[in-house]
Amino acid sequence: MNKRLMILGTNEYQNPVIIRAKELGYETHVFGLQRGEIGENTADFFHPVDILDYDRLWNECQKLHPCGVVSICSELAMHPMNFLLRKMGIPCNSEWTEKISTNKYLMRQVMKEGGIESPNFILVTENSAIEDIYAATSEFIYPLICKPVDLSSSRGVFKIEKKEDLKRALDYALGWSKEKEVILEEFIEGPEYSGESIAYKGVYKLLAVTEKHTTGAPHFVEIGHRQPAPLTLEMLKKIEQILYKAFATMKIQYGAIHPEFRITKDGKIYFMEIATRMGGDCIGTDLTPLSSGYDFMGMVINVCCGKAPDFTKIYEPKLAENHYVMNQADFDEFNRVRAEEPEIIWRYSTMKPISDRPVLRSADRAGYYITIR
Ligand SMILES: Nc1ncnc2c1ncn2[C@@H]1O[C@H](COP(=O)(O)OP(=O)(O)O)[C@@H](O)[C@H]1O
Ligand SMILES: [Mg+2]
Repeated sequence: MNKRLMILGTNEYQNPVIIRAKELGYETHVFGLQRGEIGENTADFFHPVDILDYDRLWNECQKLHPCGVVSICSELAMHPMNFLLRKMGIPCNSEWTEKISTNKYLMRQVMKEGGIESPNFILVTENSAIEDIYAATSEFIYPLICKPVDLSSSRGVFKIEKKEDLKRALDYALGWSKEKEVILEEFIEGPEYSGESIAYKGVYKLLAVTEKHTTGAPHFVEIGHRQPAPLTLEMLKKIEQILYKAFATMKIQYGAIHPEFRITKDGKIYFMEIATRMGGDCIGTDLTPLSSGYDFMGMVINVCCGKAPDFTKIYEPKLAENHYVMNQADFDEFNRVRAEEPEIIWRYSTMKPISDRPVLRSADRAGYYITIR
């Protein structure tokens, strides 16, 4: 097998896989629009091609004859990646799995039918009459939350404390949604986690559990993550069982999986959503290898080349944390750590100027730094 690897996407969250692939001896062919992103320079070969132009992409792929096609954290890039893998005859998730894993409403339906405990939920569209929504949710227990079915990164997410706020929240979420479809569901109280996992031929392995911190209500933008999450062995076993059952319900077969869930006071596990890609925000690229020792990116590359993932550990497991810089106080803390404890900084991003505008989505954050202890 040759070692020419096609990589879709060029931004800073995709860049670590370009670097990892090079370390593993692959010749990296990176595709994306020419926009001055970091991956354009780190790639061995940059191909300025729109990754949503499927015909052009498949043409280039046939010329290149790569051994595989990879993308890691991007929902956008996951679709063309699977399209190419199917064309090349490399096993990947089905179109059905791809569809339900990128639609929050279909996902809830499939999970409910598969016997996975879920909050009550309904679909709301632009044409839904508010009286009908009140009627359909009359048994729901407030607070509720509404989310565009088709977006990610907390865009359009809104927590609703009382019935009087429902319409305004739905209008907000509908305004964001591309399909003008929103899921309205009961809000689950409890700390939030994600379980970074890999699938190969429908066999699953949970590599690390991430503890998540968000800005909280109403928009829940992620402000930091920690691995390993402080959980008992008994709880970890329970998480593993429920995760694997949910993955099977969604017929997930191949590649990275990023399930997000909350654990309630009485120890019940409820999913927020399950993505068939790596967790963004450096969770898959940095925290998972640092805290578990496993070469998560190497595994994803293996699977995207039609090979079994390699479970050899590459690091001594550590406590790994990602800190987002949202305001001046965070920035001051970053500077303090840089000055006083430089040895615990694994890496940090470029920092955008701190802004006074509210943080409504992930892209509004100024930057981040990752520490290990
Ligand atoms: N049913 C729910 N109960 C409690 N919190 C929720 C619920 N659904 C979503 N959230 C919160 O909103 C965040 C974003 O929702 P999510 O479904 O993960 O959408 P996104 O694709 O934007 O990440 C979650 O990480 C969580 O903090
Ligand atoms: Mg999410």
